[in-house]
Amino acid sequence: MNTPLIVANWKTGVSVSSARAFARALSTQLTVWERRHLVVCPSAPTLGVVHNAAPHVTLGAQDCSAFEEGAHTGDVVARDLRAVGCRFVVVGHSERRTSYAETNAIITEKVKRCVAANLTPIICVGETKQERDRGETDMIIEAQLQSIKGEAPHRVIVAYEPLWAIGAKEPASESVINEIHQHIQSVLRRWRMSGVTILYGGAVDAQHIASICALPNVGGVLVGRASWNASSLRGLLRALQR
Ligand code: PGA
Repeated sequence: MNTPLIVANWKTGVSVSSARAFARALSTQLTVWERRHLVVCPSAPTLGVVHNAAPHVTLGAQDCSAFEEGAHTGDVVARDLRAVGCRFVVVGHSERRTSYAETNAIITEKVKRCVAANLTPIICVGETKQERDRGETDMIIEAQLQSIKGEAPHRVIVAYEPLWAIGAKEPASESVINEIHQHIQSVLRRWRMSGVTILYGGAVDAQHIASICALPNVGGVLVGRASWNASSLRGLLRALQR
């Protein structure tokens, strides 16, 4: 296995009040190897708490504005995420595509804002169960990938997150992960974008993380629920080193 990236998507699952102790635990307990492989994505108000309590932990945001700046009340712009210590931003998570009607065009703008602010966008792609059943998976994913077309491969990350696996009991099977990661690679190769890191996300836990990360074409994982407390997150990192 080469060097997998573990991206912890805290969603709203870690409150500001619990984040301080959580971050302190990470700061004192993580090995150098673990720190090098981990990106923590707290909610926007929690970013500063984590940054202060665990300055060596790599930070990511869960979203950013599609605009560079201007009159956009409530938006958090890429420039400011970078200024508070972020290095990565999750963009186009299915929960945002679904709940806020974020289109591929909006996500393309977000990718551009991230790259311009020297942040690495982690763009989430994936199909619903209905799209899979209709045989549309490859087409949907290629359309979603258009948001990074033309970017330098080392400046962007893709996360394959089938919607039917997010929040589910079990991750997608290894054969599905293999097949879709190969598809993503072949699309990117066609666009002369070989070398993009491709993560898998959806119900990743300590039981499955090592075998998923050992698959060819898998550069790491995007983890939700299993990253929401210190012992569970450390369990994931330890499982990778067994
Ligand atoms: P989950 O979430 O690990 O809780 O399934 C993954 C995600 O939404 O990124």
